[in-house]
Amino acid sequence: MQIGTVISTEDSPSTSQFMFVLDKDKDTAKKGQFVQLTTKEGELFGYINELVRANRYFERAESVAEYEKASSMNKNFPTSEWDYLIGEVKILGTLNDEKFLRTYSPPAPGAKVSIADDQILKKFLGFKDDGLNIGKIQHHELETRIDMTRLFQKHLAILAMSGAGKSHLASVLIEELLDRKKEDGRIAVVIVDIHGEYVGFKLDDKYGIKTNLIEGNDINFPVRKVSPEMIEEWLPNLSVPQRELLRHSMHNLKKTEGVYGLKEIVENINESDVARDEVKRTLKRALAELKRYRFLSVNKESPNINDIKPGELLILDFSSIDSLRKKQILVSFIARRLFKLRKKEKIPPFLFLIEEAHNFAREKAEAHEAISRSIIETIAREGRKFGASLCLVSQRPVNLSTTALSQCSTHIILRVTNPNDLDHIQMSAEGIDARVAKSITSLKVGEAIFVGEAVNYPIFVNVRQRKSTKRERGLPLHEQARAFEETRKKKEEQVEAFL
Ligand SMILES: Nc1ncnc2c1ncn2[C@@H]1O[C@H](COP(=O)(O)OP(=O)(O)OP(=O)(O)O)[C@@H](O)[C@H]1O
Ligand SMILES: [Mg+2]
Repeated sequence: MQIGTVISTEDSPSTSQFMFVLDKDKDTAKKGQFVQLTTKEGELFGYINELVRANRYFERAESVAEYEKASSMNKNFPTSEWDYLIGEVKILGTLNDEKFLRTYSPPAPGAKVSIADDQILKKFLGFKDDGLNIGKIQHHELETRIDMTRLFQKHLAILAMSGAGKSHLASVLIEELLDRKKEDGRIAVVIVDIHGEYVGFKLDDKYGIKTNLIEGNDINFPVRKVSPEMIEEWLPNLSVPQRELLRHSMHNLKKTEGVYGLKEIVENINESDVARDEVKRTLKRALAELKRYRFLSVNKESPNINDIKPGELLILDFSSIDSLRKKQILVSFIARRLFKLRKKEKIPPFLFLIEEAHNFAREKAEAHEAISRSIIETIAREGRKFGASLCLVSQRPVNLSTTALSQCSTHIILRVTNPNDLDHIQMSAEGIDARVAKSITSLKVGEAIFVGEAVNYPIFVNVRQRKSTKRERGLPLHEQARAFEETRKKKEEQVEAFL
């Protein structure tokens, strides 16, 4: 649709920008919309960076003020006929014979400007027909079909303040992954669900059969699959003699016993003659902490990471676990297993989605609070070669490991208002220019900016509705309050009746 004509100003049209005046009846163009025009080099694309309204009748402050004293200018002059809308366009590139090139010569003044054609825009932005449908591009009727490989292979970060729609967006991404056809390539998805926000998938008619939900307190790993190095990571305060004793005992057990648990390790430590009693005692005290977390078993294994399947979802529902250390230990163990098994090609390529990622890969943290950070950073650095992808979701990007964040080559940013978080996001995500940075604070719930590897240019997306059942733990405040008082009243009545 043709909407206007390129005009000539002091410094435009140039190869990087031009201005155009909108046709009178077509002044519905919006800031951020993509436009195109035909040049000698091919079809030129850009986006409307700003819209300005002009009217010569109102240019001189003193005359406007004088006229308005007597009666309104609008009454005495045909002011509305001189009302123009001018668009400022940033040029993105030129399409020539299916190839996108930099623009080498400016468009001509007088050239006709149109709203970008969706079919070409699709190519221009790098969408694929079998890509993930996340919603529509802002101001266009074009579905955002993002290439799966480009989105996940080099990791994804979803960053926004609380309530901006991170989990909603993550659910949309998961739906798209579960809906993929075998021939398009399917990956397994594993989620660390901190608040039980994804349990709806298990209850859903369509996705339920593809979903395996494990409750946090039911997670169990056999001790024989745990190496002494892992335990050292979980208990970073162990001294050198304690570490030696632990290794010694675990190696002994591995050699002599087929199956063993924490109890056998402790017995072996008791019997050991390589360490002093003091070392034994402190090591046992440290191991008691792991025992308290009740996830190390002799044989029981749940979930079995070997069983993850392409096109299926494993949800680890951590909402019933209180201890952050336990959560970190579980994430560290699962991430290590996933990465190890993937390197040996025993499991399919996977996406490991971590909610509240700042709690699992903290930027500044003491060793005992940074248990899962090193494996997350390792996958962030090396995962892409093996088809091991991360999706880090966080409402506190400032606290998220810079190493992990900077390895995420696509960032999806929803509303953020905290200036510290904004600075941090800008520093860690390439491709956020001043325009994008300025828009982040004014995004509404469900509006997202995609920058980085997955798209050729930053795009603004209205995230679509979800198809899956939404079920959140946690009722609205007023319902919780009502339920509390009702139960309280019932109890009192029962007591009275009893008396
Ligand atoms: N694109 C959207 N369309 C419709 N509703 C949305 C959209 N995005 C988010 N919402 C709604 O907004 C609310 C907050 O979204 P969500 O729970 O995803 O936020 P969040 O960023 O994960 O918050 P938190 O940091 O607290 O986990 C939810 O009720 C969700 O259904
Ligand atoms: Mg959330």
